[in-house]
Amino acid sequence: MALSTGSKRVKTAVFISGTGSNLKSLIKFSKLKKSPISIELIVSNNPKSKGLHFGKIFKIRKKIFNFKKQTITEKEILLYLKKRKINLICLAGFLKILSKNFIQNFDGKILNIHPSLLPKYKGLNTHKRAIINKDEHSGCTVHFVNSKLDSGKIINQKKVKINKSDTPQSLAKKVLAQEHKLYPKAILKIFSL
Ligand code: GAR
Repeated sequence: MALSTGSKRVKTAVFISGTGSNLKSLIKFSKLKKSPISIELIVSNNPKSKGLHFGKIFKIRKKIFNFKKQTITEKEILLYLKKRKINLICLAGFLKILSKNFIQNFDGKILNIHPSLLPKYKGLNTHKRAIINKDEHSGCTVHFVNSKLDSGKIINQKKVKINKSDTPQSLAKKVLAQEHKLYPKAILKIFSL
């Protein structure tokens, strides 16, 4: 894996589709002295992503790509990332599934955060599924992205207790609060390996 900081911070793009609360926590982390990354770009497939406003607040370049023709779009994104010398992608609530070709072009340099204790509950509606199955815990996972959905090597995880009164919404809120801490820790971990 060609993930090395040398003396400079690794230029990073964060891909979002929605609210962008993980994006915000990553931006805040990237400003700390100990951070090995600098966030240079926010990419979204959705022009209505609320998280895009963090680009304005933190003066980070934003780029919206239309995924209707995904193969062509992915080629455009790859070119754009190359032009900007981006060397790490953090998926943060990005709801498009990237192609094998795209992932191979960024091999070992794409991370994702997922709201479950993988390998349990890949895909969507993770909290609802955990509650229906009467699980005692849910949680979140940061992992490397490979060509199989939510199946890449796990970097770290955080457990969250499910209470009897929890709804998918209340559980999502508790897990999200942990995600904001877990993603920066995962980044520190991979750069210290
Ligand atoms: C987060 O809970 C993230 O784990 C999840 O979407 C939410 C995005 O929140 N990602 C997935 O479900 C990907 N499969 P945010 O936009 O506030 O960061």
